[in-house]
Amino acid sequence: MIDRAIPLLYLAAAVSFILALMWLSAVATARRGVLVGVAGMALAVCGTLLRPEIVNYRWIAAAFVAGTVIGVPMAMMPMTAVPQRTALSHAFGALAAALVGTAEYYLRAPGIDRFTMGALSIEVLLGFLTFTASLMAFGKLQEVLPTRPITYRNQNVLNLSLFGLAAGAGAYLVVRPDTAWLFPLFIAMALLFGVLLILPIGGADMPTVISLLNSYAGLSAAAMGFVLNNKLLIIAGALDGSSGFILSVIMCRAMNRSFTNVLFGAFGQVQAGAASEPERRTARSATPEEAVDILRAASRVIVVPGYGMAVAQAQHKVRELYDALTKAGVDVKFAIHPVAGRMPGHMNVLLAEADIPYDKLMEMDDVNSEFSQTDVALVIGANDVTNPAARHDRGSPIYGMPILDVDKARTVMVVKRSMSPGFAGIDNELYYMDRTLMVFGDAKAVVGGIVKELAGAAG
Ligand code: TAP
Repeated sequence: MIDRAIPLLYLAAAVSFILALMWLSAVATARRGVLVGVAGMALAVCGTLLRPEIVNYRWIAAAFVAGTVIGVPMAMMPMTAVPQRTALSHAFGALAAALVGTAEYYLRAPGIDRFTMGALSIEVLLGFLTFTASLMAFGKLQEVLPTRPITYRNQNVLNLSLFGLAAGAGAYLVVRPDTAWLFPLFIAMALLFGVLLILPIGGADMPTVISLLNSYAGLSAAAMGFVLNNKLLIIAGALDGSSGFILSVIMCRAMNRSFTNVLFGAFGQVQAGAASEPERRTARSATPEEAVDILRAASRVIVVPGYGMAVAQAQHKVRELYDALTKAGVDVKFAIHPVAGRMPGHMNVLLAEADIPYDKLMEMDDVNSEFSQTDVALVIGANDVTNPAARHDRGSPIYGMPILDVDKARTVMVVKRSMSPGFAGIDNELYYMDRTLMVFGDAKAVVGGIVKELAGAAG
């Protein structure tokens, strides 16, 4: 009976994971995707707990309690801390896979067959390197480690050589699994490679690396599936590995990074120019009252949210602004840059939380042609993703990154607290254009003020 239940539970879990990924890829169905993913994981855990190899639940129960005690507070982190929280999840997931691989090696070597040892080598190599790389990524994003890239001469040669040595050790163990002294050395090289891999990578490129580490952790889990002969692990790991890889490619494109640069961590040079001195130019500022006059006269407005909207938690005020302008007959849309904020989908999540209709959220490629026919581009806490320097300034660290063409709108209104730069640490020439008005202040307070004025004018 139980023998039959386990494959059925695993099959249901695998189908749930596939459906979850499908639904997670669209904002309108993302909540359903999360729920189905959670249900799938619960089915997978139940199926595994029924396996006859488990003779005692005591340690599993202890681990369950410990995991819950650590995991629940971690889930309560603010939305802006999700990238580093994700990095920690990858670190622990990869460590789990690597430790299972290590235990299997000591249980089964030297009699282990070559295919299993090959999978085990991949599992351990990717698992341990992802563990330390993810901890490094966490440290950089949480700013407990220096966020700037740390580069030195022959860095890529050293990194590649170390990776080559580690991979060589893994391959040797496949041929000679009885070489027990090599296994700890193999682990040490993987752990060290993870640290060195992240050293030269700067903050702005960290999200791409995090999704790549997600992919590595998934591949490590898939390899573990081959070692343990567990089909669900193979399926779930392959889904995790491929979706993480696809996300990395999408983010590379959005930030105009070459994928080989991500793999070999050559971002140092790009970030080095980021702290250049801002030029002394003047920007025009406006009060919220003046902003209201311009918005009331507009017939088409595109709102461009960015990291500042997330920091200010201004999404609900933005929703009120959307309602007020729509009521006044203004056509309002939202332009979403793929790397606005600090994690993929950051703006979509916040705007969905505020119940902004999904069909008003437009992707960068679809909305860019509309800015030239737009009366007001209202930039709320976005900076780098609107910087025209990315289009023409070859010396800029963000050169080549596709941006939202807000500078093409008839009037650009920017809501932020000061002239401070954004994540890339560079001045934004958008702020000095004749058509740009800066409305200084916290996004929630400013947008709230605009909404009040609009309501007063309507009443
Ligand atoms: P940023 O370029 O980081 O700019 C955000 C702006 O928000 C800042 O200039 C800041 O100016 C303003 N701000 C902060 N708090 C505010 C508040 N309470 N009220 C109003 N404004 C506030 O943001 P972006 O345009 O969204 O671009 C994202 C950047 O992060 C890109 O460089 C991207 O590469 C990088 N990045 C993206 C991700 C992902 S996956 N999305 C992950 C990591 C890094 P003031 O201080 O003057 O207010």
